[in-house]
Amino acid sequence: MAIDPASPVPKYAQLRDLLLDWIVESGLSVDDPVPSERELGTTYGLSRMTVRQTIDLLVAEGKLYRVPGKGTFVARPKIEMALALASFTEDMRARGYVPGARDLTRRIAPAGGGTARMMDIAPGSPVHYIERLRTADGEPMAVERSNIPLSIAPHLDAFSLSERSLYAILEEEFGIILDSGEQTIEAGICEPADAKLLGLPPGSPVLSMQRRSFANGRCVELARSTYRADRYQLHSRLDPHL
Ligand code: GLP
Repeated sequence: MAIDPASPVPKYAQLRDLLLDWIVESGLSVDDPVPSERELGTTYGLSRMTVRQTIDLLVAEGKLYRVPGKGTFVARPKIEMALALASFTEDMRARGYVPGARDLTRRIAPAGGGTARMMDIAPGSPVHYIERLRTADGEPMAVERSNIPLSIAPHLDAFSLSERSLYAILEEEFGIILDSGEQTIEAGICEPADAKLLGLPPGSPVLSMQRRSFANGRCVELARSTYRADRYQLHSRLDPHL
């Protein structure tokens, strides 16, 4: 296939699709190099600038990665985020990764107005505020910030969250079995502090999630999470009707 100069699709976007097809057809796998920008320019009769635009796009999409001085390589496929009330630990294990957590902040703090409203608790009532860096096979994947009412898990701060899953502790130590939840996922730009933690260039695209999980009608957790958009994608089955 070649670039079609008469097509309304911009050349850099045509090259993106051609390259992705070529990667599959040539049987390239993760960490295999792709041709240099100069080679691609010659093969497809495109300027270096157009080729660079395509590579930048594929890097931002998480399909390729660059190693300065070495070249551009095929990236690992993205992890499909479970659209379920699963814990990070469960979700990563199901996909064959070793889950991990690094405590960034843990404190008991009064719930602010917005948080209290969303959790249906009195403003100012104490919550465990937990900020964690989540990892898969040791690689940073997400920053998760959870609020849990102190009243439902009073001595939660006694348990290490770098060794155990939060949901497992809630269930095993406090008898809380989450039975429903709701989640909003939006596209976002990574905050500088989170970019540093996630090892991303500032301004990288992220998936911003807000989840409320409930047990017996009571809100157990309000979590706001930032997931790397270069490593995660959403996938869901579609029913024919709403
Ligand atoms: C998911 C949710 C978080 C929740 C976490 C618990 O990642 N988005 O809101 O805190 O799971 O994970 P774990 O039980 O592994 O600590």
